Amino acid sequence: MNGTDPKSHLPKKPRLHSHAPPHSQPSNSIAPSDILSEFSHHDPSVARINNGSFGCCPSSVLSAQQHLQLQWLRQPDHFYYNQLQPGILRSRNIIKDIINADHVDEVSIVDNATTAAAIVLQHIAWAFAEGRFLPGDAAVMLHYAYGSVKKSVEAYVTRAGGYVIEVPLPFPVNSVDEIVQEFRKALELGKQNGRRVRLAVIDHVTSMPTVVIPVKELVKICREEGVDQVFVDAAHGIGCVDVDMKQIGADFYTSNLHKWFFCPPSVAFLYCRSSVKSSELHHPVVSHEYGNGLAIESAWIGTRDYSAQLVVPKVLEFINRFEGGIDGIKKRNHEAVVEMGEMLVKAWGTHLGCPLEMCSSMVMVGLPACLGISSDEDALKLRTYLRDKFHVEVPIYYREPKDGEVGPVTGYARISYQLYNKVDDYYKFRDAINELVDNAFTCSSLRN
Ligand SMILES: Cc1ncc(COP(=O)(O)O)c(C=O)c1O
Repeated sequence: MNGTDPKSHLPKKPRLHSHAPPHSQPSNSIAPSDILSEFSHHDPSVARINNGSFGCCPSSVLSAQQHLQLQWLRQPDHFYYNQLQPGILRSRNIIKDIINADHVDEVSIVDNATTAAAIVLQHIAWAFAEGRFLPGDAAVMLHYAYGSVKKSVEAYVTRAGGYVIEVPLPFPVNSVDEIVQEFRKALELGKQNGRRVRLAVIDHVTSMPTVVIPVKELVKICREEGVDQVFVDAAHGIGCVDVDMKQIGADFYTSNLHKWFFCPPSVAFLYCRSSVKSSELHHPVVSHEYGNGLAIESAWIGTRDYSAQLVVPKVLEFINRFEGGIDGIKKRNHEAVVEMGEMLVKAWGTHLGCPLEMCSSMVMVGLPACLGISSDEDALKLRTYLRDKFHVEVPIYYREPKDGEVGPVTGYARISYQLYNKVDDYYKFRDAINELVDNAFTCSSLRN
């Protein structure tokens, strides 16, 4: 990184090239054989079409991480006093530029999106405890909010006296408007009986079923309707969708860096707009830096391994070997996953779970109705069966049929596409499902 030009580490302005099917390699400065070697630690027997759950980390970044871990072990005091804090600041500065934040103080590095949610929701709980919010004031979140975030809302907001409203979302989704309408209705409900809506929790990319939520529009509506604070849970954000803090305009925004940004597990950023007083926000793990601002608190929460937070410059180096940097990777992943999703629904006579513009680098693919997926348990058992029998790793979602639906698709697979994937991974999945269908398999055979 050039010390005089703060932007010298940024990816070049993306040069978006024409549609590149996943099997023809895009023109990167990284050769296909290098990509293979960067992910050679992946189990080659598995069609891993589930980047969404745990992400991935290339071996060049893992080596850099191991080097840092050894440096710590070699002379921890020197590392602690001279390297740790400047290193974390370097990572925060890189993230600040990529997400278009105003100031590095708005960016804290934490372990994961779950920790970021705890920081924001604990802040809300104190507002109730200290009388700034009144019992019965509302918080709004999507019905498809991530399970652990819902539990955090229960632990911090409901328990503190907040009234929590879930926005019901249709699935399959036909349009952005359907989501906007349901969101508006939930805010209306929140404001009934003179209540104030204190918090909106909005996913950028829902986990299951996966859909890109129109966050910019929803944040704007929140502002118009006087919602106090908006927290965007973008666990899948950076590297998967456009992440621009000025455009989105939320008070709080978190994204994992280990899902779609090639960091090792586990690291995330939490952006807190400068209008929110950083001294009022605290890391749930309190240590020496308590009261020095969230970013500083988060950079030392006791003795532990901080190496995942320090490799962000190395990750950027990896990313910049690809045409268009992270935007180029994101665009190609999106195009590839859509192409693979369309191939699968054509083979099975089903449909995708949402319009293409609401897909990220993940897409919901309808499974043949004859598989008889009739519960969440069936979906989990089928996933396990696909892993054990066919070596295909893919999450499965159960959708309850509506009254009167004829031959409903009740099961959807969430497929992901990332650099290491090949068309054969998706053919393997297609063929596995075709084999089950040919053999008149139904999920009832997995029940005991
Ligand atoms: C929408 C959403 N929020 C939060 C999380 C939690 O992420 P983590 O386990 O890294 O904290 C996930 C994980 O997949 C997610 O999809």
